Amino acid sequence: MFEKTRDIFTHLIHPILFMYLAASYIPSTILLLLSPLQLNILFSPSAFKEIWFARFWSTYGPGLQINTSPTIAPLLQRVHGIVLDIGPGSGEWLPLFPKNRITKIYGVEPNRDHHVALRRKIRDCGLEGVYEIVPVGIEDLARAGGLGRGGWIVL
Ligand SMILES: C[S@@+](CC[C@H](N)C(=O)[O-])C[C@H]1O[C@@H](n2cnc3c(N)ncnc32)[C@H](O)[C@@H]1O
Repeated sequence: MFEKTRDIFTHLIHPILFMYLAASYIPSTILLLLSPLQLNILFSPSAFKEIWFARFWSTYGPGLQINTSPTIAPLLQRVHGIVLDIGPGSGEWLPLFPKNRITKIYGVEPNRDHHVALRRKIRDCGLEGVYEIVPVGIEDLARAGGLGRGGWIVL
């Protein structure tokens, strides 16, 4: 009985609540883009989605770790060498990377609206010079030139 209730919450109520919370950021994002008027973003579904998601994630992204940390934290503790961090968002997991065993991290994050928060996290975690933001989608990495041997992306 308890498991069934928990399943209903995890697989039904939680996703609906999550979608509701995300949708609640649409009106304020539209208002933000009206002053000053940024029609190019308002009428571009992909540009609008990026700024909307970044605003939503900056509030709810950090809290989501509380539930997922027990499964993800042990995995992160095992990473070493050169790391490919796909879709880091605002970098909420950066504090858990084992700094002493990592030589380089490439954070492939196409949404530039996350980059200010991500850079702040890189600085706060002492990962400057180690963590490099790669501003493309993972599917575009090869087309953008890939990750060079010297540690630089060739764009
Ligand atoms: C749900 S967020 C998760 C952020 C972060 N990994 C976390 O757990 O806090 C998904 C992230 O993946 C990024 N993303 C979406 N499409 C991507 C792609 N094609 N390549 C790389 N990242 C992508 C989004 O911009 C967003 O930052």
